[in-house]
Amino acid sequence: MLFLLYLILPVLAQLSLPNPPYLPPDSSKGAEPSSATTIPNPQWSTLLGNLIYFYDAQRSGNLSTNNRVSWRNASAVNDGKDVGFDLSGGYYDAGDFIKATFPLSFTLMSVCWGAIDHGRGYDLANQTAYLDSMLRWGLDWMIKAHPSPSTLYVLVGSTDVDNAYWGGDQNIPANRPSYSIDDTKPGTDAAASASGAFAACAALYSNRGFNGSYSAPASLHDDTYAQTLLTHAEQLYSFAVNATGGQKTYQSSVPAIGEAYGSSGFGDDLTIAALFLAWASISTSYYQQAEQYFQQYKLTKQNTVFNWDSKTPGVYVLFAQIIQASSSFGGSLSTWQTECERYFDAIVNGNSGASTTDDGLLFYDGDSDDASLNPALNAAMLLSRYAPMASTSDKKNKYSEFAQSQLDYVLGKNSMSGRFLIFYFPFVSNPNSPSNPHSAMASGGNDINNIDTSPAEEAYVLYGAVIGGPDKRGRFFDIRSDWPETEVALDYNAPMLTLAAMHGQPCDAAISGGCGGGHKLSKGGTIALAVVLTVVGLIILGLLAWFLRLRWNRK
Ligand SMILES: *[C@@H]1O[C@H](CO)[C@@H](O)[C@H](O)[C@H]1NC(C)=O
Ligand SMILES: *[C@@H]1O[C@H](CO)[C@@H](O)[C@H](O)[C@H]1NC(C)=O
Ligand SMILES: *[C@@H]1O[C@H](CO)[C@@H](O)[C@H](O)[C@H]1NC(C)=O
Ligand SMILES: *[C@@H]1O[C@H](CO)[C@@H](O)[C@H](O)[C@H]1NC(C)=O
Ligand SMILES: *[C@@H]1O[C@H](CO)[C@@H](O)[C@H](O)[C@H]1NC(C)=O
Repeated sequence: MLFLLYLILPVLAQLSLPNPPYLPPDSSKGAEPSSATTIPNPQWSTLLGNLIYFYDAQRSGNLSTNNRVSWRNASAVNDGKDVGFDLSGGYYDAGDFIKATFPLSFTLMSVCWGAIDHGRGYDLANQTAYLDSMLRWGLDWMIKAHPSPSTLYVLVGSTDVDNAYWGGDQNIPANRPSYSIDDTKPGTDAAASASGAFAACAALYSNRGFNGSYSAPASLHDDTYAQTLLTHAEQLYSFAVNATGGQKTYQSSVPAIGEAYGSSGFGDDLTIAALFLAWASISTSYYQQAEQYFQQYKLTKQNTVFNWDSKTPGVYVLFAQIIQASSSFGGSLSTWQTECERYFDAIVNGNSGASTTDDGLLFYDGDSDDASLNPALNAAMLLSRYAPMASTSDKKNKYSEFAQSQLDYVLGKNSMSGRFLIFYFPFVSNPNSPSNPHSAMASGGNDINNIDTSPAEEAYVLYGAVIGGPDKRGRFFDIRSDWPETEVALDYNAPMLTLAAMHGQPCDAAISGGCGGGHKLSKGGTIALAVVLTVVGLIILGLLAWFLRLRWNRK
C-alpha cells in the first residue's frame, strides 16, 4: 500500500496547469506597449513562457491531455520495446528524433539550478506550473531510463537512421534501438551527469535555495518527488564511482553515441554531481568527495567553455554558492572567489583564449563553431549568477555588464540586428531573424534532398526556440540545411530560461542590472539597433510592436 502511494503521490502533486493555457501571444497582443513600471515586465514573461513552450514542442511519446502544441502528435510510443522496457516519453534532442541522455541531463541540471536561484521570475510570470510540467516530462523519462541502480539508457534511436530521415512525427523510422551503460560496460560521465541532474532537481523540489542575492526557488515544493529524485541521484553516483567495469567515457561502452554526443572526460561530471548531492542532501561527505575529485582531475585554473560536455566553470561557481550559503561544509569562500574571478576576469578582459566576433559575441573556437550562442549564453548565465558574490563592486559591474552584452546580442544588438530566437515575440520579428530552423518536425517537409526549399515556408512556428547562431564573423544564414546556425536543441534554450527568469524579477529580488526594472542597454548601442529594438529600461516598446504588427498584417 505504501509502495503504491509512493508511486502515485508524485503524479498527484504535479502543479495543475492554467486553464486556459498559456500560448505564445498573437500579434494584437504584442502590439500592447508595456509599461516601464509593470512587474513583471510582460516582455520578459512572454519570453519565459515561449522558451518553456519550445520544450512542449520537443516532447516524445504519448502527449499528455494538456498538450499545448496543436501540430504535434504522439510519436515513438514503442521506444524501449527492443529491450523490454517502456522508454517512451522524454524529449527529442534537437531538430531530429534521437533521445540522448547526456545532453538532456545537462539541460535539466541547468534549468533546475536556475529555478533554484531565480524562482520568483517563474512565479511572477505564472510559468511555474509549466516549468514543473517541463521538468517532470524529462525527469520522469530519466527515471524510466534508470530501471536498476547500475543501468542507464543513454540513447534511444540510431543516429544513422535518424540522419537518413527528414519528416514529421508520424513516419519516424521504427528502427529505434535502445542503448545502455551498466556495471560491466559503464559510462562514468553519463552516469555522473544524470546524477547531477537528479540531485540539482532534488534540491529544487526540496525548496533548498541559496541565500545571498538570489530570489527563491520556484514554488513547486514537493518533498516526495524530491526524495525520489535524490534516490536516483545517489544510485547513479555510486554506479559512476564504483562500477566493476571501472571508470571510462560512455562512448567506449556505447560507440553508437559516436560523433553526436561523445564526452571528453568525467572529472567535471563527478565533481558537479557530488556538489549537487552535497547541497540536496546536506552532506559534508559528498562535499569532501567533490573537493577530492577537484584535486584528482586538476580542475583548477581552466578556461574552458561551459556546456553539456564541459562543466568545470559551473563547478567553480557552485562551490562558491554552497559555501556562501552554508559554512557547515567547511571550505573557504575566498578560495572559490579567487578561482571564479580568475576565470571570469579572463573572459571579460579578453584573455581566456576565447575570442569575440566583431560584433561582440563571445566565441570559443571549436565549441562555438557548432552553435555559437550556446557558449555565450552559458557564460552570461554563470557571470550573472556569480556577480553578486564578486569581491569588489568593480568586478561585479564588469561581470554584469558582460553578461548583459551577450544577452543583448541574442535579443538584437548585433551586426545583423537580428533576434536569434525563433519568433520569441509575436511573429516575424525582423527580416534578419530566423524563420527556418533546422527542425524536421517544424519544417513540415519530407524531402531529405531538398530540405531548404521543400516546403518554401516553414510549416509550423517553433515559438521560443533559441537557434545555433551566427558564424565567427557574425554572419547568419537563415537556411535549414545550415544546422550549425539554425538547429534548435534542448540545451540551447536552457541558459536563456534562467536569464529570462532573472530579468523578470523586481530589482529587490535580483542582482543589480539583472531585474525587470533596472534593465537597459548601454547608450553606445548601434543606430541600426534603434530601428529594431528600442530599449529604454525595457526591451520592446510600442514602436516595435507596431512595426511587427504591420509586417504581420502584410503577410
Ligand atoms: C499511449 O497511448 C495509447 C493510446 O491511448 C495506449 O494504448 C498506450 O498504452 C499508451 N502508451 C504508453 C506508454 O502510455
Ligand atoms: C499571473 O496571474 C495573476 C492571477 O491570475 C494575474 O493577476 C497576473 O496578471 C498574471 N501575470 C502574468 C504575467 O501573466
Ligand atoms: C501531426 O499530424 C497531423 C495530422 O496527420 C499532421 O498534419 C501534422 O503535420 C503532424 N505533425 C508533425 C510534426 O508531423
Ligand atoms: C547565508 O547563510 C549563512 C548561514 O546559513 C550565513 O552565515 C551567511 O552569512 C549568509 N549569507 C548571506 C549573503 O546572507
Ligand atoms: C564505493 O565502494 C566503496 C567500497 O565498497 C564504498 O566504501 C564507497 O562508499 C562506495 N562509493 C559510493 C559513492 O557508493
